[in-house]
Amino acid sequence: MARVLVTRLLPEGGLDPLDGHELVQRDDDRPFTHEELVAAVPGVDAIVCLLTDRIDARVIDAGAGRLKVIGNVAVGFDNVDVIAATARGVAVCNTPGVLDETTADLAFALILSASRLLSEAERDIRAGRWHGWGIDQYLGRDVHGATLGLVGYGRIGRAVARRAEGFGMRVLHHARRDTGAPGFVADLDVLLAEADVVSLHVPLSAETRHLFDARRLARMKPTAVLVNTSRGPVVDEEALAVALENGTIFAAGLDVYEREPDVHPRLLAAPRTALLPHVGSASVATRTRMARVASEGVRAVLAGERPSNLVT
Ligand code: GLV
Repeated sequence: MARVLVTRLLPEGGLDPLDGHELVQRDDDRPFTHEELVAAVPGVDAIVCLLTDRIDARVIDAGAGRLKVIGNVAVGFDNVDVIAATARGVAVCNTPGVLDETTADLAFALILSASRLLSEAERDIRAGRWHGWGIDQYLGRDVHGATLGLVGYGRIGRAVARRAEGFGMRVLHHARRDTGAPGFVADLDVLLAEADVVSLHVPLSAETRHLFDARRLARMKPTAVLVNTSRGPVVDEEALAVALENGTIFAAGLDVYEREPDVHPRLLAAPRTALLPHVGSASVATRTRMARVASEGVRAVLAGERPSNLVT
């Protein structure tokens, strides 16, 4: 029986694969501070954590000699220092494949919401600022028939592409390597010049941090909409706020932010924005599956098996 630190409460059934192991878990859902994490790791064989937990070299070192595996309940694993883990022989698992459709649904909701200014319209009606139908009110951009530019063409990007077909969109995509699929555009700037909607589906890395800075935003059409359901730091929030204020781009739909849960005040005040609190995978079924997949990876490593969701 191994000892497994579980940093937060997880959906019911999410930890079932770890039955038979000792779970070290708080009774309430209070997040561990970084110092508390460092203090909690000695003496455990495994960690099941969330994307809000920063599992850096200090945390991993605190588990030295015993820690074998980290199960991150997320598909993105930029919160885990994978290089440090690998160097210390600690396996890292994530949750690929179980949240693609749910996240693609949310990306499409943001495409619709931002293009048609739905958040702005709802804010007005709730604040008593709507005084009757007007022919020139809330004039957005049509989604049907528009050109969608996907940046990143992994499982989630492809799931968004399938939805776009139903809306009669022309779909282009950019990825680091030629995908060989129709619609591939090797030069990101060329895709930006063409796209009416740009949707981001890249992991966060040194290469993608601030991929959308002032220069890139200026490459987009002034009528275009930017949607980000990947990771906040892929977009320079301040540059985006300025682009919205100046009309460099038409609108933005965001689910992720550079310094969650803080949102750049200028972005909060910017016009034509739909802002969501990182809910891409937030359905009951998907969040439960994510917890199970991360736990299953941990179980497998503890049993000496090689799980399919290993990122190291
Ligand atoms: C959510 O953002 C995830 O990476 O699973």
